[in-house]
Amino acid sequence: MKAIRYSQYGSPDVLELVTLDDPVAGPNEVRVRLKAAGVSPIDAKLRSGALQPHFSLTFPKIPGRDGVGVIDQIGEGVAGFSIGDEVCVAADPTRSGTYAEAIVCASTRVVKKPPDLSTAQAAALLQPGVSAWISMCRTAMLSEGMSVLIHGGAGAVGGQMIQLARHLGLDVTTTCRAENIDYVLGLGAHRAVAYDRDDFGLLGHVDVVFDLIGGETHARSYQVLKAGGQLVYLTAMPFENQAEKYGVTVTRAMISDAPEALHAVAQLAVEGVLIPAVMSTLPLAAAADAHRQFEAGHVSRGRMVLNMEAGG
Ligand SMILES: NC(=O)c1ccc[n+]([C@@H]2O[C@H](COP(=O)([O-])OP(=O)(O)OC[C@H]3O[C@@H](n4cnc5c(N)ncnc54)[C@H](OP(=O)(O)O)[C@@H]3O)[C@@H](O)[C@H]2O)c1
Repeated sequence: MKAIRYSQYGSPDVLELVTLDDPVAGPNEVRVRLKAAGVSPIDAKLRSGALQPHFSLTFPKIPGRDGVGVIDQIGEGVAGFSIGDEVCVAADPTRSGTYAEAIVCASTRVVKKPPDLSTAQAAALLQPGVSAWISMCRTAMLSEGMSVLIHGGAGAVGGQMIQLARHLGLDVTTTCRAENIDYVLGLGAHRAVAYDRDDFGLLGHVDVVFDLIGGETHARSYQVLKAGGQLVYLTAMPFENQAEKYGVTVTRAMISDAPEALHAVAQLAVEGVLIPAVMSTLPLAAAADAHRQFEAGHVSRGRMVLNMEAGG
C-alpha cells in the first residue's frame, strides 16, 4: 500500500510517500481499505513535536486521525461488522494513522459510514464531531434556550458545534473572520462577530463560551459570560484562570474516541444534524502541502481531505 509517514519530528518536509506491505488485522481488529483521510490540526501538531509532552510516538509514524473506507479483513472476535462495510475510522493518535491506503485498528474505533455523506464529508466527520459532541453534550451543562458563544465557527470543530448547538435549541453566536460571516450564518448561527473587525467583548452576556482559540480570546471571554456562566475550552495553551474573579466555571473538554461519542456523532450525521465541511480535496501524495497550508493559517471552512483514489 501507499502511505505517508515520518521518522522524526520536524517541518512538513519530514513527510514522505512510501510503499509498505498491507497491515494484517489481529484479534478484535479490522482492516479498512481507505478512500480518504481528513487532515486535522493534531496531525500537524504531532508531526512538529509540539505535543511531545502529551503523546509518545513510535517512529516511523503514519499520521492521520480521521478516515473513511471499506472493511476488507476482520480479525478474530469482531462482532457487528462484515467485509464490504463502509466505515469511518477514528485512528489512535499514537498508532498508525489514516494517511495510507489501508489501516488496521480496533473495531471499537470504526462506525458505519452515514450513507448520505460523501466520501470527503465522511473523512471530515469524527475528529471534529467528537470534539464538538464531548464539549457540548458531556462537558457543558446545557439546556434548551441557553445562549452560547462559539469561537472559531468557521473551523471544522466550530462548524459542527454550530450545527449541534442549533439541534440542541440554543441561541448561537459565533466568531470568525469577516469574510466568513455569511458562511457561519449558513451553518445555522443566529449571529456572528468578525474577530478581525469587531469586538466580541461588546456582546451581551451569554450562558456558555466554547473556546477553540485560547490566548487573548480566552482572556476576553470572561467579560461576556453571565455570572454563573461556563467557559469550556479545547486548547492546551496555558492561561490565567479567572473563574473566581468572574464567578464562572472553567472546564477543559477532555476529548477521547469513546465508542459512545463515535456512535452519537455518526447517528447525528445519519439524522442530517451534522454535515461536515470540506475545504478542499488533495491526493494522498500532497500531504506535506496540506500541512504547509495548515501551518500558514490558510485552512478555513472545514477540513482538507486527502483522497487515496486520486492516486498516490
Ligand atoms: N483538545 C483537544 O482534544 C482538541 C480537539 C479538537 C480541536 N482542538 C483544537 O481546537 C482548535 C480548532 O480545531 P479545528 O479542527 O476546528 O481547526 P480548524 O478547522 O483549523 O479551524 C480553526 C479556525 O480558527 C479560526 N480562528 C483563528 N483565529 C481566530 C480568532 N481569533 N477568533 C475566532 N476564530 C479564529 C479560523 O477562522 P477563520 O477561518 O474565520 O479565520 C479557523 O477557521 C485547534 O487548535 C485544535 O487543535 C483541540
